[in-house]
Formats: sequence, C-alpha cells, structure tokens
Amino acid sequence: MPDPVDNQYLSNLKRFCQQLSGFSRERGNLIPLLQLAQHCVGFLPPKAIDLVAGHLGLSPSEVFGVATFYNQFRFTPPGRHPIKVCLGTACHIKGGEIILENFERKLQIQAGQTTLDQCFSLERVACVGCCALAPVALMGEAIHGHMAPSKVEGLVLQVEIEEEKHRNRKQHHATE
Ligand code: FES
Repeated sequence: MPDPVDNQYLSNLKRFCQQLSGFSRERGNLIPLLQLAQHCVGFLPPKAIDLVAGHLGLSPSEVFGVATFYNQFRFTPPGRHPIKVCLGTACHIKGGEIILENFERKLQIQAGQTTLDQCFSLERVACVGCCALAPVALMGEAIHGHMAPSKVEGLVLQVEIEEEKHRNRKQHHATE
C-alpha cells in the first residue's frame, strides 16, 4: 500500500511545481520561490532546491547556500506537533528568546530541527498578530499567550500524553 505521508509529500511537491511555472526566471525571485516551496511542502527538500535552481538557472549548491543563510527555512520535515515561538518585537521584549531556549533544552533540538521520533519540530517565527499576549508560542494551530519558562514543560508533557494515548488506542485496535 502506498505510504500516505509520501503521497502527501508528492502532491505538495506537484503543487509547488505548478505554481513555480508562474514565476519569471529572475534571480530576484529566489527568496519568494524558496518561501513558496516551504509553504507548499512544509520544508525545503533537495528536490525543491533542485527545482528552484533549475528554474532560475542557478546551481543547487548556490540555492542551498542562500537558503541556509536565512533562519526562516527548514530542511527537515516538520514534526507531528510543530512548535513555533514568536520572536517579533513585542515577544522579543517580553522574553521570547528565553521561551525558545526552554523549548530547545526540553526537546533537545535547536530551532529549525525536528525530534528524532518526529513528534516535535521547533521554529522561530515573526509576529503572529497577537502581541497583547506576548510572549507567544504556537503548538500546531493553538496559540499559547503569556508564555513562561514554567509553561514549556507542561505543554510538551500534554502532547506526549496525547501521543501515548493514541499509541495505546492503536495497539488496542490492532490486537482486537
Ligand atoms: S510580536 Fe509576537 S505576536 Fe506580535
């Protein structure tokens, strides 16, 4: 049976290919195209880098080199529970960096990485539009405002418990 994750990946890549053809081949489109690729696929796999390079007449290593310069791009698939820590001005002033460091320590990954079990990924983002709640973190689509280092542990634990329950339910069904 085809892997649904791979199918999803391929259809995302196809969507990117279709949109890519609408862009002119100017070098100035490099960053917008990388952003589009990440938006469609969720990260920048080598295939997306090759496509962008081919479209703009650049070498893949050149495109990769530029992409690594910006911390908005990720090169590994996001986890099942992507965590985004806002480092816009308001959140930065209210200690967003400390929140990010706490997630990094707890998950033992750096921003832009995914945990080995693919459960969590972590990234820094610009203002998510709810500065009154600064500092802000997102777990999937859920916004968590007034973040504090002491909340980090609890949020991660909550997801781990949900995952554990999900695994147990699956095992239970498999043995029925
Ligand atoms: S700066 Fe973080 S929500 Fe605006």
